[in-house]
Amino acid sequence: MLKKSIFFNIDLMFREIRQNPILSVRNLKVHFPVRKGIFKTVASHVKAVDGISFDLHAGKTLGLVGESGCGKTTVAKALVKLVQACEGEVIWKGDSVNFDTDLLNAPSKKLRKLRKHIQMIFQDPFSSLDPRMTVGNIIGEAVKFHHPGSNMEKIILDYMEMTGLRREYFKRYPHEFSGGQRQRIGIARALATEPAIVIADEPVSALDVSVQAKVLNIMRDLQKRLDVSYLFITHDLSVVRHISHEIAVMYLGDIVEIFPTQKLKSGTKHPYTRALISSVPAVFPGQKRKEIILEGEIPSPMDAPPGCKFQTRCPYRTKPCESIRPMLKPVPDRDEINSDNRGQNHGARIYTHRVACHNLGRLPF
Ligand SMILES: Nc1ncnc2c1ncn2[C@@H]1O[C@H](COP(=O)(O)OP(=O)(O)O)[C@@H](O)[C@H]1O
Ligand code: SF4
Ligand SMILES: [Mg+2]
Repeated sequence: MLKKSIFFNIDLMFREIRQNPILSVRNLKVHFPVRKGIFKTVASHVKAVDGISFDLHAGKTLGLVGESGCGKTTVAKALVKLVQACEGEVIWKGDSVNFDTDLLNAPSKKLRKLRKHIQMIFQDPFSSLDPRMTVGNIIGEAVKFHHPGSNMEKIILDYMEMTGLRREYFKRYPHEFSGGQRQRIGIARALATEPAIVIADEPVSALDVSVQAKVLNIMRDLQKRLDVSYLFITHDLSVVRHISHEIAVMYLGDIVEIFPTQKLKSGTKHPYTRALISSVPAVFPGQKRKEIILEGEIPSPMDAPPGCKFQTRCPYRTKPCESIRPMLKPVPDRDEINSDNRGQNHGARIYTHRVACHNLGRLPF
């Protein structure tokens, strides 16, 4: 009886962990100094990421979208410390040994241990693969590092099979493959460390549309099998809806809206999100939509206006927009759905629709 209740409690505890985020990003800022003059003094800063917050959940995908230059890649790099954040927290909650570790401030020894939990997939599969290494060696490097002493060849072949790479490719080199196959090698390499999180920065943007679909399918299948969560970064809204459970929209270093994917069609609230969706006919093929043409200049990330950064292009701006920066706030709507974009109910409130706009509720949508 005692045994049963202990296991019951452990089971409950793990269910609790699975419903909580495995990574929480809070107020993340990356400001690049701009130096001028012969003494290279800091004249200003490019505010590439300017105080963003979001959560990643186990086995789920957060899509991060926005126009080129809005700060998406800098977010990815800051999470794995390829660039230095100047403020904020990246709290790792993903395993029972290292509860609540701030990755930005963790000692390097601890970071090395945690690194296997967060992997990256890059846009250009060719330049991210060592041309002198065979497929077996590329995937094997990750296996060797994170599973020393294991049956390497079997694990490598398993990952090759999962990503649709044939066994006979084991001894071939990256230049012998097409773009789509190279991206599969990149995915196999990233997953070979059995990470909890994969950050994929424009992983299919360099591929033909038909190959994009195949790579997205592989990523989705692997997510179901391995329970990995993705931060899926893209400028392409028509891609992000096929893989994301939740979507965050960035504008000039800020997240202006986060919403469950099923709201993409008609439930978004921020004027910028609306304009972005209307500009991509391929998001919902066959549906007639009027493109929203934004007038006004995009401010420089070095010199964005105080208040709402979108005010120079927003047809709905009012006086407070000029001086008060809008923060993300939950949308108080009744159609909030606790299911993912494939209609599965999690029985827990995972996704909350949030918008950063002073005039929410007064907008015509
Ligand atoms: N190392 C850097 N030094 C200075 N500015 C940078 C650096 N990396 C990126 N930026 C600037 O930061 C902004 C965001 O860039 P990036 O994150 O690459 O955007 P995205 O991936 O959305 O296209 C851009 O204005 C870019 O020019
Ligand atoms: S805060 Fe003001 S300027 Fe910004 S999106 Fe909302 S209405 Fe437009
Ligand atoms: Mg980028």
